[in-house]
Amino acid sequence: MRIPDTVGILLLLSFLFSDSWPVTPWSGKDTFLQCLRNHSNPSYSILAAVCDPENPSFLSILWSYSRNLRFQTTATPKPLLIIAAHQESHIQASIICCKNHGLQIRIRSGGHDLEGLSYVSKLPFIVLDMYNLRSIDVDLENEAAWVQAGATLGELYYRIAEKSRIHGFPGGVCPTVGTGGHFSGGGYGNMMRKYGLSVDNIIDAQIVDVNARILDRKSMGEDLFWAIRGGGGASFGVILSWKIKLVPVPATVTVFRAQRTLEQGGTHILYRWQKVAAILPKDLFIRAQPRVVKNQRGDKTVSIAFIAFYLGRARDLNQLLNKSFPELGLQLKDCIEMPWIESILFWFDYPNGTSIDVLLNRKSRRLVFYKEKSDYVKKPISTRQMELIWKKMIEIDKLYMQWNPYGGRMSEISESEIPFPHRSGNLFMIQYDLSWLEPGNEAADYYMNQTRMFYKFMRPYVSKSPREAFLNYRDLDIGSSVNGTESYKEASLYGEKYFKGNFYRLVKVKTEVDPHNFFRYEQSIPPYSLDH
Ligand SMILES: Cc1cc2nc3c(=O)[nH]c(=O)nc-3n(C[C@H](O)[C@H](O)[C@H](O)COP(=O)(O)OP(=O)(O)OC[C@H]3O[C@@H](n4cnc5c(N)ncnc54)[C@H](O)[C@@H]3O)c2cc1C
Ligand SMILES: *[C@@H]1O[C@H](CO)[C@@H](O)[C@H](O)[C@H]1NC(C)=O
Ligand SMILES: *[C@@H]1O[C@H](CO)[C@@H](O)[C@H](O)[C@H]1NC(C)=O
Ligand SMILES: *[C@@H]1O[C@H](CO)[C@@H](O)[C@H](O)[C@H]1NC(C)=O
Ligand SMILES: *[C@@H]1O[C@H](CO)[C@@H](O)[C@H](O)[C@H]1NC(C)=O
Ligand SMILES: *[C@@H]1O[C@H](CO)[C@@H](O)[C@H](O)[C@H]1NC(C)=O
Repeated sequence: MRIPDTVGILLLLSFLFSDSWPVTPWSGKDTFLQCLRNHSNPSYSILAAVCDPENPSFLSILWSYSRNLRFQTTATPKPLLIIAAHQESHIQASIICCKNHGLQIRIRSGGHDLEGLSYVSKLPFIVLDMYNLRSIDVDLENEAAWVQAGATLGELYYRIAEKSRIHGFPGGVCPTVGTGGHFSGGGYGNMMRKYGLSVDNIIDAQIVDVNARILDRKSMGEDLFWAIRGGGGASFGVILSWKIKLVPVPATVTVFRAQRTLEQGGTHILYRWQKVAAILPKDLFIRAQPRVVKNQRGDKTVSIAFIAFYLGRARDLNQLLNKSFPELGLQLKDCIEMPWIESILFWFDYPNGTSIDVLLNRKSRRLVFYKEKSDYVKKPISTRQMELIWKKMIEIDKLYMQWNPYGGRMSEISESEIPFPHRSGNLFMIQYDLSWLEPGNEAADYYMNQTRMFYKFMRPYVSKSPREAFLNYRDLDIGSSVNGTESYKEASLYGEKYFKGNFYRLVKVKTEVDPHNFFRYEQSIPPYSLDH
């Protein structure tokens, strides 16, 4: 499944050398640029941070932070300009001038939004890119760090490990994900059962609001600080930086990856996993990944990968599994000890011996077309039901799932502590992922349809009323608004799935901080006033 970046590069070249990408004439451009100049600090000219469609590198800059080929086509709407801010005043000027000129602003940190919302809009828009603002300041003495929104997770982990082998931070596995989007959407990874989400460990933040003021926790107030920790930053302002609390990790952690096919009793083992994964000690996180493979006879079957992270030594892990999850049949020799920072590479499938310097690489390892969705499971799926699911997966073939166990620390935090509501009562979250390489609408329609059919098929086994979803696995199918949310009713469709009852508090905060709904997109939080 590892696809080289060259596919993306070839596609890119084919667009660059075709004349099918029209440069939209935009009459307001000169006054807009003048406005940017007037409202920014000349110490670093904002014009040097601006890239327009006439620039031959426009598409490569636009797509260098796009992680999904679905949004790298000639038909994908393009911004009027990209502003790659170098300093705070560039952000302030972008907000003021977009407001004055009735343009939408799309804020992009790592560009991993699964529906491309950080760089695609159907209304005239500019992209505010954050990648130049990526300093990371680790303060070991206070076990904290200030992280600018344009920093990636890989950079953050690297900078922590550079200073300490016994500190870490609970966040996602993919090193190129941006902290701007990731933290403001929750952010989970393999230390979630021990320390909760990324946002459960954020203690301060800086945001530029709709009036171009720079606020920190104290000046923004607890309501807004609550909202941006999981409610999606882009409804409220531009996050400049986060202050995070580092967490302790042992000098040596343990990982393993074990594959079990249906023929090897995978269904029963996964059934047992459902019973134990959410109640095992917090130090242990075992992800289960069912995927369609071919067996030795060449027939399709399902293989389940069990991928584990343990905050402790191999011997202890082996004993723990022997007692609590013997069905997996894990041997001591399967358990691999390493420092925490190397476990990040292991979890992202880098070959043994890869230098941790790859964490500083900002390029995607693979570019494909894909569609993702999410679900929450509250009671175990029976082995009979799992067999039906495998049959369906084999029919569809390309779809795979990640089952991520909850419980532990996740169950101790109340549903309303932050906007992310999926806490106690959840056994695991499912991530659905279907990716393809064939370009064109026909292929996209076909595979999107398959993903949606599978999602429909899963309904009996997952949470209901609402059918909950994880904001960071953004999915426009669960409700959206073309022009950026204006209707409260419309927004409650996806709002309740992502946030449950917290949606209403988010609306309240939005009403206070951005009553005219400047910061909006297809799944933003609307203010009350619009249809009340
Ligand atoms: C390969 C891959 C692996 C992933 N793994 C995980 C995982 O392990 N755990 C997990 O929780 N999620 C994971 N995700 C989902 C990821 O966390 C979200 O897509 C997240 O929103 C990405 O953040 P970003 O900054 O890279 O994205 P962007 O596309 O830049 O932004 C995403 C959203 O946040 C907004 N935003 C971005 N920056 C700012 C800012 N500075 N201020 C205000 N709003 C902002 C954008 O406008 C957009 O709405 C993964 C995604 C991918 C593609
Ligand atoms: C920029 O500032 C100049 C000088 O103050 C003013 O004349 C002009 O109208 C301003 N333009 C914009 C677009 O703000
Ligand atoms: C589990 O522990 C028992 C008793 O120590 C031992 O006999 C058995 O071989 C172990 N099983 C595994 C799978 O390690
Ligand atoms: C990784 O490589 C090192 C040597 O480079 C070796 O000692 C170790 O056993 C390897 N680990 C795995 C899991 O293959
Ligand atoms: C999508 O699936 C439905 C069946 O659920 C089918 O009727 C429809 O033709 C499919 N569309 C595409 C584009 O494959
Ligand atoms: C979206 O906005 C455009 C331009 O303002 C308008 O023409 C269109 O009707 C709007 N669509 C919806 C669904 O509101």
